[in-house]
Amino acid sequence: MKFFVDTAEINDIKELAATGLLDGVTTNPSLIAKSGRDFLEVTKEICGIVDGPVSAEVIALDHEGMMREAEILRKIADNVCIKVPLTIDGLKTCKALTSDGTKVNVTLCFSANQALLAAKAGASFISPFIGRHDDNGFDGMDLIRDIRLIYDNYAYETEILAASIRHGVHVLECARIGADVMTAPPAVIKGLVKHVLTDKGIEGFMADWAKTGQSL
Ligand code: G3P
Repeated sequence: MKFFVDTAEINDIKELAATGLLDGVTTNPSLIAKSGRDFLEVTKEICGIVDGPVSAEVIALDHEGMMREAEILRKIADNVCIKVPLTIDGLKTCKALTSDGTKVNVTLCFSANQALLAAKAGASFISPFIGRHDDNGFDGMDLIRDIRLIYDNYAYETEILAASIRHGVHVLECARIGADVMTAPPAVIKGLVKHVLTDKGIEGFMADWAKTGQSL
């Protein structure tokens, strides 16, 4: 499973990129606002840190506006992936952009039927929002399961990019179901390494090593 980080914080991206675990980055208008940075500037900086796709979201809600903004965004770097909302205008934009080879991430997906439309529009990625689905009393994992089934039924190449991931169990379940990618905040990705028995084991080995009086 590919790991994307869902943030526009440069230090977090650099730290995770250095581990070799990072396959891409996703941003959205809320994350750009949180960073306090200029949208185009920070996107360019992120594109220089990771080789994989960097999702940058259009702001316009109409097709013409989305196309105009996509033109600006895709000039930033070769690894920019244009993010569009799951609306008729977003799907129309997705079709137009992917037809000439641009990568597109269709976001704010909350139903398997929406995901089917995105695949038919040629989306490179579909972003179902698991956490927000759970927040509203639905099972986000059922959504991932249904999309996996439908995409496999018709051999759609659109990658399932599980988003709105809130904790390690979301990551585990996505990996079990076979989501192609998951995007999570830096703290969730870093949290995956933690285990109390790992820490306890290191503590024990260090204590015993000290008793040997040796050094390396
Ligand atoms: O990638 C989408 C993500 O940023 C939404 O996450 O936690 O705001 O629902 P959240």
